Amino acid sequence: MSTVKKLMTGLERKYRVATVLAPVTIMGEVFLEVLIPLIMARIIDVGIPNHDAKYVTLVGLLMIGASLLSLSCGVVSGCLAATASQGFSHNLRRRLFSKVQDFSFFNVDKFSTASLVTRLTTDVTNAQNTYAMIIRMCFRAPFMFISAIVMAVYMNARLSLIFLVAIPCVAIPAALIMTKAHPRFEAMMKKFDKLNASVQENLIGIRAVKAFVREDHESEKFRQAADDVRSAQVKAEKLVILNMPILMLVMYMSIIVMMWFGGNQIIAGDMQTGELISFITYLTQILSSLMMISMIFVMLVISRASIQRICEVLDEPLDLTDSGDSALKPSDGSVVFKNVSFSYDKRMETAVLRDVSLSIKSGQVVGIIGGTGSSKTTLVSMIPRLYDVLSGSVEVGGHDVRDYGLKPLREDVAMVLQKNVLFSGTIRENLRWGDVNASDAEIEAACRAACAHDFIMSFPEGYDTELGQGGVNVSGGQKQRLCIARALLKKPKIIIFDDSTSAVDTATDAKIREALRTSLPETTKIIIAQRIASVKDADVIFVMDEGRVVDSGTHDQLIETSAIYREVYESQLKGSGDMDRPESD
Ligand SMILES: Nc1ncnc2c1ncn2[C@@H]1O[C@H](COP(=O)(O)OP(=O)(O)O)[C@@H](O)[C@H]1O
Ligand SMILES: [Mg+2]
Repeated sequence: MSTVKKLMTGLERKYRVATVLAPVTIMGEVFLEVLIPLIMARIIDVGIPNHDAKYVTLVGLLMIGASLLSLSCGVVSGCLAATASQGFSHNLRRRLFSKVQDFSFFNVDKFSTASLVTRLTTDVTNAQNTYAMIIRMCFRAPFMFISAIVMAVYMNARLSLIFLVAIPCVAIPAALIMTKAHPRFEAMMKKFDKLNASVQENLIGIRAVKAFVREDHESEKFRQAADDVRSAQVKAEKLVILNMPILMLVMYMSIIVMMWFGGNQIIAGDMQTGELISFITYLTQILSSLMMISMIFVMLVISRASIQRICEVLDEPLDLTDSGDSALKPSDGSVVFKNVSFSYDKRMETAVLRDVSLSIKSGQVVGIIGGTGSSKTTLVSMIPRLYDVLSGSVEVGGHDVRDYGLKPLREDVAMVLQKNVLFSGTIRENLRWGDVNASDAEIEAACRAACAHDFIMSFPEGYDTELGQGGVNVSGGQKQRLCIARALLKKPKIIIFDDSTSAVDTATDAKIREALRTSLPETTKIIIAQRIASVKDADVIFVMDEGRVVDSGTHDQLIETSAIYREVYESQLKGSGDMDRPESD
C-alpha cells in the first residue's frame, strides 16, 4: 500500500479523478455485458416459440440499445484509463528526474547511468501500462466473474455446479505458473540493464570504437547482451503462454459437459434452449475473466520488478544532504583541509585520500602536481563538495563546507573539470551557465582571458554558433577554453582548473596563465597540471603521491627539498617526461 502511495504522490487532481471514474464506467460496461445474454434468452425462449414478431423486435431493440450503451461505456473507460495512466507516468518521470538531479556523484555511481536511463524510460513505461491495466482490468475481471456467476446460479443452480470443477482447473495452474514466472521476469529486467549499458557505453565512446576499429568486437558484445535478453524473455514467456491452452481446454470440456447435462435437462423439461445458450455465454465470461485475472498477475509480475526499481530511485537516500545554511556565503577564498581521508566506497581500507592536511590563503595561486591516479581530482572534488569526506573536514571561507547550502557553496567554487562538457545551444548560451546576466562585454572579456575569443570569432556565426550535443563541433582544446571562460564568468571566490589546459598548446597555455593572473585577482586559483611550467609561478605547489600530499612549497623550495618534484622537473626540461615516473626507476 505504501508503494502505491509513493508512486501516486504528486499526481494531479484531474488524473486522480480519471483514475476513479474509469472503474465506474467499466462497471457499467460489465453490467450490460452480463445483462445481454439474459435478454437473448428471453428472445429464444419466449419470442420465438410464441411466434411473437413484435416481442422479438422490441426485445431485440433493447438488446441493441444495451450493446451500444455498453460500447460507449467501454470507450469512455478506455479514454479515462489512458488519460489517467499518461498523467501517472508523466508525474512519475518528472519526480524521478528531479530526484536524480539531487543525486550526488556517489548516488549516480551506485546506480550507473545506464540503469538510471532504463529506470526513467522502460521501467516507467511498464509501470504506466500496469497502471492503465489495473484501473481497467482489476475492476472489470472480478466484477464480471462475480456477476456472471450470480446470473448463472440464478438461472440454473444445478448446472452451475460445473463451475466448482472448472474454476479450480483454470485458477490453480495459473497461480502456479505465475509464482514460477516471477523470478524469471526479474532476471529479464537485469539483462535489459546490461543491454542498455552496452548501448550507452558504445555511443559515448563511439569515436574511440571507430579509431581502434573495434566495431566487430562491440557488435559481438551487443549481440551477446541482446541474446541474453531474448533467452531470458523466452524463458519467462514460455511459462506464461501455457495459460491460454489450459483455459481453452477447460472451457471446451466444460461446454461439452454442459451440453450433456443441459441437454438432458431440456429434454426433461427442466430448462429451456435459450437458457442453455446464455449459460454457455456466462461460462466463457467467467473463465475468461479468470484468465484476465491471471494476465493481471503476469503484468504485475513484470512491473513489480520495474516498480521496485523505480522505488529504489525514489527511496535512495541523498548522499549529500543539503542541510546547510542557504543564507551563509563563503567570506573569502581560503581553503583548509584538516586530516581529510576519503574513499569512493566509504570504506577506510580503500581510501584514496589519506590524512591530507593543507591550508590555502584567499587569493593565492596554488599548483597541484602528481602522477595520474595520485588523487588530484579527488582532492579538489572535496572543495565544491562533490563528495563528502570520510573523516576530517574541509573548510572554505572559514566554515566547514557542510555548513553551507550546496547552491551558495558551488556558486563560489567554480570547477573546470578534467572532462569538459558543453551542452547543445549556442556558445553564448553555454557561457551564460556561468552567469545568466553576463553582458556581451563581460562574456568577451572572459573569452579573451581564456584565449577563446579569437577562435570563436573565426566561426561565421561567432558567439551565436550552435554547439552540437556535448559540444561535438569544437576541438578538445577549444572546448577546454570555453569551459574556462564559462567558469571565469561565474566570478567565483575559488576557481579550480583540473588539468584544464591539457589539450591546449604550450604557447596558448602560457597566455591563458598570464591572463588568469590579472583577471579575478581576488580569486583563489587552484591549478592541477601535468606540466611543471603550468604551476611554476604559483604561490604554493602541492606534490601528491598515492593519495597524500608529500611535499609543498614554492617552485624554488621544491627544487631544493622534493625529490619527486626535482625528478619530474628535470625530465620535463629534457622535454620528454611528465608526472608519470617511468616504471624502471
Ligand atoms: N568515481 C570513482 N569511483 C571509484 N574510484 C574512483 C573514482 N574516481 C577515481 N577513482 C579512483 O581514485 C583514485 C584517484 O583518482 P583521481 O583523483 O582521478 O586521480 P588523478 O586526478 O590524480 O589522476 C584512482 O585510483 C581512481 O581509480
Ligand atoms: Mg584527474
